[in-house]
Amino acid sequence: MNPVLRRAVTATATSAASVTATTGQGFFRGSQRLSSTLSGTSNSRLAATSTASPSESSPPKKGFASLSQPSQPTGPSAGQVDVRLVSRLTRPVSPTRAQKHRPLAQSVPESAVLSERNSVLTLDFGGKASSFDSVWLRDHCRCPVCFHTETKQRLVDTFEIPLDIQISSATLSQNGKSIEITFQNDNHKSVFDLDWLRSNSYNPRVATKSEDVGRTFKLWGSEITKSIPVVDFDKVMAGDEGLAEWLNLIDKFGIAFVQGVPPTPEATEALGCRISFIRETHYGKFWDFTANNAHADTAYTGLALQSHTDTTYFTDPIGLQLFHITEFTGVGGKSVYVDGFNAAAELKRTYPEYYKLLTEVPVPTHSAGDPKVVIAPSPRAYPILNIDPLTKQLYQVRWNNDDRSVLNSKTLKRLGSDEPVSVKDFYAALKAWVSILRDPKYETWIQLEPGLAVIVDNWRVLHGRSAFTGHRRVCGSYHGYDDYRSRVRDLCYGRLGRLDI
Ligand SMILES: [Fe+2]
Ligand SMILES: [Zn+2]
Repeated sequence: MNPVLRRAVTATATSAASVTATTGQGFFRGSQRLSSTLSGTSNSRLAATSTASPSESSPPKKGFASLSQPSQPTGPSAGQVDVRLVSRLTRPVSPTRAQKHRPLAQSVPESAVLSERNSVLTLDFGGKASSFDSVWLRDHCRCPVCFHTETKQRLVDTFEIPLDIQISSATLSQNGKSIEITFQNDNHKSVFDLDWLRSNSYNPRVATKSEDVGRTFKLWGSEITKSIPVVDFDKVMAGDEGLAEWLNLIDKFGIAFVQGVPPTPEATEALGCRISFIRETHYGKFWDFTANNAHADTAYTGLALQSHTDTTYFTDPIGLQLFHITEFTGVGGKSVYVDGFNAAAELKRTYPEYYKLLTEVPVPTHSAGDPKVVIAPSPRAYPILNIDPLTKQLYQVRWNNDDRSVLNSKTLKRLGSDEPVSVKDFYAALKAWVSILRDPKYETWIQLEPGLAVIVDNWRVLHGRSAFTGHRRVCGSYHGYDDYRSRVRDLCYGRLGRLDI
């Protein structure tokens, strides 16, 4: 241990109790630059002064808090001291004054503390402390030199930042809403909004409940037909307000209908392009077809289609499917929709083990009907129910029994494990899943007609149809999931709102 470090540890060990007592008595706020002197006596208080005691072995660096050395250290040994409070960043005020100021803002830190080596900054957000590493703070500077205000891209050269970069000073603003930090190696000044620091805190995370709210899904079953989510074509085409209304419905329900659509491919394509450019696939860009077997896929026949999601065989399945029947003279061909998130929730309630299996067993899929097309995802297989590894929430349903590939030892195991899965258990889980998908409580049947377009979130809502005979002309488009979510953030969430950039 270097001499400076040892001295700090011993001083802190001696005065640890008084530091704690002082911390408990009042709180510190203000704009005063901190350079505090910590006395080694038992009843010492932290005081914001401009005095700095020189170090024996090396002079104190500019702006650093320094320590007076106790003559006889009596506290725990250096090895036992984990957190050492060296400097207060704000000046002490009386408890009475503190209480008067307390309602200013919940997020205003009551105290800010630098670690011994000034490479960790601890902030107290209304009684909840959280620490920020200096390298993190320097890397996350949002000044125009370090972060491009237009492109929203990092400009700072992260790899030039020393891992233990020193903070030489930290100053709370008068209104308590921001903190200015000066770094020692390059004398760079960064100003951080305290709300921003709180919502991005990580050691530990300190956030309000409202900040923890993620997407809100309105799960639905057959009852959705009583009040289907629908918007007017003219409104969507007229401006962003109507488009936002449509996107909000898709975001919430995973399905939204559009009424009053001119029954033409041109109008339908224009509608889809309100959200994003079209995702082209081996089926083409904007599709407009009849049951003419144009592609080697059951969608291009008059056969019934069980509820499924599209393109399970893509690494990145398509995000939205816009669908519009522009001509129909025949019998049958009713459309069915199932909220996959609702069905999965029911599977979890009724057969938790099967639910778990379907979240853990990867299922290989393919599309190889068309000449020269042999599509399969990379990695080779994904579970039917995909769980976000960060949030632990279901984020994607991939289910089309028609597109399943061979089950063999390559995939018949749980992800992250070589333990083989019982084939019978797997089929039992599939049966339980499909019994829910086919339960009339979860199915919504609707006869689509020219003028009524529908869009589904293909990562959530399954679609199918009954068999039909006669003439049925259908058009529509696919849109990428990321492009769809981008549009939702931009128009419904207040641009960058809810996205930590
Ligand atoms: Fe489909
Ligand atoms: Zn900067």
